[in-house]
Amino acid sequence: MTDHSIEGKTVLIAGGAKNLGGLIARDLAAKGVAAIAIHYNSDATKSAAEETVAAVESAGVDAHAFQGDLTSAAAVADLFERAKTAMGSVDIAINTTGMVIKKPVAEVTESDYDTIFAINSKAAFFFIQQAGQHLSDGGKLITIVTSLLAAYIGSYSVYAGSKAPVEHFTRAAAKEFGARGISVVAVAPGPMETPFFYGQEDAESAKYNQNAADLSKFTATGLTDPHDIVPLVRFLVGEGWWITGQTLLANGGYTTR
Ligand SMILES: NC(=O)c1ccc[n+]([C@@H]2O[C@H](COP(=O)([O-])OP(=O)(O)OC[C@H]3O[C@@H](n4cnc5c(N)ncnc54)[C@H](OP(=O)(O)O)[C@@H]3O)[C@@H](O)[C@H]2O)c1
Repeated sequence: MTDHSIEGKTVLIAGGAKNLGGLIARDLAAKGVAAIAIHYNSDATKSAAEETVAAVESAGVDAHAFQGDLTSAAAVADLFERAKTAMGSVDIAINTTGMVIKKPVAEVTESDYDTIFAINSKAAFFFIQQAGQHLSDGGKLITIVTSLLAAYIGSYSVYAGSKAPVEHFTRAAAKEFGARGISVVAVAPGPMETPFFYGQEDAESAKYNQNAADLSKFTATGLTDPHDIVPLVRFLVGEGWWITGQTLLANGGYTTR
């Protein structure tokens, strides 16, 4: 029987330097994983990656930072190679990368379309493909998507639209990798209290979202607190292994289906 505890496991987190990814890294370090490879993208995120490495190391866990723009299949393959070389294995792979564009359909440019699909769909696909090649038997694979997949809403056509394929990538990978005991899940937070959210919203739309979940009034800001996504991810990459092929909406009752 496969060991489903997270203790002693090796973890690769794409987008692991800050916000949700940084919190997941800190949490898994505190819960006893053996090593974490922390991916970051832009030069501006380097200091956050260094802070996360230091936080993980201070928990007594090996940490490695790797920079890369993951919008090419080669870059994703290189990240897995480097992580596996550094840690000796990759037992758990978590992809938190993404970008958002909020615009009416009429205003979306070809460049917007290509840029957002490159990270939200293409990078997500090749991350799943590389995880299938590199994960240990019994491994766990998570992609962060969005609760907007269950929304009937304007202005997020290319955001929700570019995250939507991940549901099908997840289903197919769960089927194909299941023979090796690998669980594959997409996690879909509601609008989260990070700069990623506020960058696209005005005061009115932010206020709407801060009151849109059934449980909004029980949180500090009304939005999904990324700290409330962390335990779900921790569960799924450990004892929650029986959940596979699914998209899980975690949003306090923001959208449902
Ligand atoms: N915040 C929300 O309201 C919300 C709600 C639901 C779902 N989500 C999803 O949750 C995930 C985490 O979001 P967050 O709020 O924690 O914000 P975040 O820290 O900005 O996460 C996005 C990450 O994607 C990375 N990234 C962007 N382009 C990349 C590229 N070309 N190659 C590699 N990495 C790239 C960013 O790195 P750099 O900054 O260094 O480029 C960043 O680490 C995202 O997938 C997002 O779609 C967010």
